[in-house]
Amino acid sequence: MKEKLEEIKAAALSALKNASDIDALEDARIKFLGKKGELTAVLKGMGALSAEERPKIGALANEIRSSIENHIDTKKAEIAAKLEEAKLKAEVIDVTMPGRERETGQPHPLTKVMNNIKDTFIGMGFEIADGPEVELDYYNFEALNIPQNHPARDTQDTFYISDNVVLRTQTSGVQVRVMEKTKPPIRIIAPGKVYRSDAVDATHSPVFHQIEGLVVDKGVTMADLKGTLEMFIHRLYGDDTKVRFRPHHFPFTEPSAEVDISCFSCGGKGCGVCKGEGWIEILGCGMVHPKVLANCGIDPEVYSGFAFGVGLERIAMGKYGINDLRLFFENDLRFLGQF
Ligand code: DAH
Repeated sequence: MKEKLEEIKAAALSALKNASDIDALEDARIKFLGKKGELTAVLKGMGALSAEERPKIGALANEIRSSIENHIDTKKAEIAAKLEEAKLKAEVIDVTMPGRERETGQPHPLTKVMNNIKDTFIGMGFEIADGPEVELDYYNFEALNIPQNHPARDTQDTFYISDNVVLRTQTSGVQVRVMEKTKPPIRIIAPGKVYRSDAVDATHSPVFHQIEGLVVDKGVTMADLKGTLEMFIHRLYGDDTKVRFRPHHFPFTEPSAEVDISCFSCGGKGCGVCKGEGWIEILGCGMVHPKVLANCGIDPEVYSGFAFGVGLERIAMGKYGINDLRLFFENDLRFLGQF
């Protein structure tokens, strides 16, 4: 009987050794340890043994049973580990694979400069005002002291919608709209698109952007105008930039001036960018004409004001060193992505 038990043990261990999955393990367990299994069959024959032999064989049978059980447990753990490993391998993510890139845009360079300028003026207590691009002749010209047949109309080649409706040629009309509706003190800038019937070249486009500024209050002087514009220019081009006011004429301001800054390319020595002048003209400005105030219902004996108008494209070209205005409107991402 002892030999039979040893045989069973050897057969069971060899079967377990070859088992490659959980089903094979279960088959072996049933075959050797099950109710109708080989070990059970041997134990059933124990009645035939002598009283002396019975406990010895019993002990051996128990030892063999637990040995087989241990082997089953060990093998089970091995198979589970292998399955787990295979599963992990199948699910592996290669973190070195290049990812799918999501393309992100960014603001247009004109928008960036515009936002920059807005921030500067908001910081000085200005509000942002708006007006229509399709504008009445009255606001674009008449109320600004530019009557029919005034020569200033010739310098602003105008797109006419009808006899008294135009595509605005300047943002100055917003001044009038604001003054009509608002009691001083007034402090606004009015950014937006303007239109002129110009042929396209490196410095002209039929659509471009201006930023209008207007301050009206009691006791506003040319000194306020100079201080405000110097602050704006230093914010934009740096504190070392020199500012020069040169007498000029605009129908809606008196006195009027054009403002030049020391060349941002050469610092004022003279170069190709400033055409050897050392100075670059960047805006027009002046004290609001008493007639314009009166046209808007503001008493010029009580109030005074200053105004200015800046071309956004020219500012952006200077700031970024761009030499052709058309680049702003061609929507070439290789250009737009550089700012
Ligand atoms: N509107 C003028 C233009 O388009 C620019 C300008 C000049 C605006 C002087 C002003 C100003 O408000 O005071 O050329």
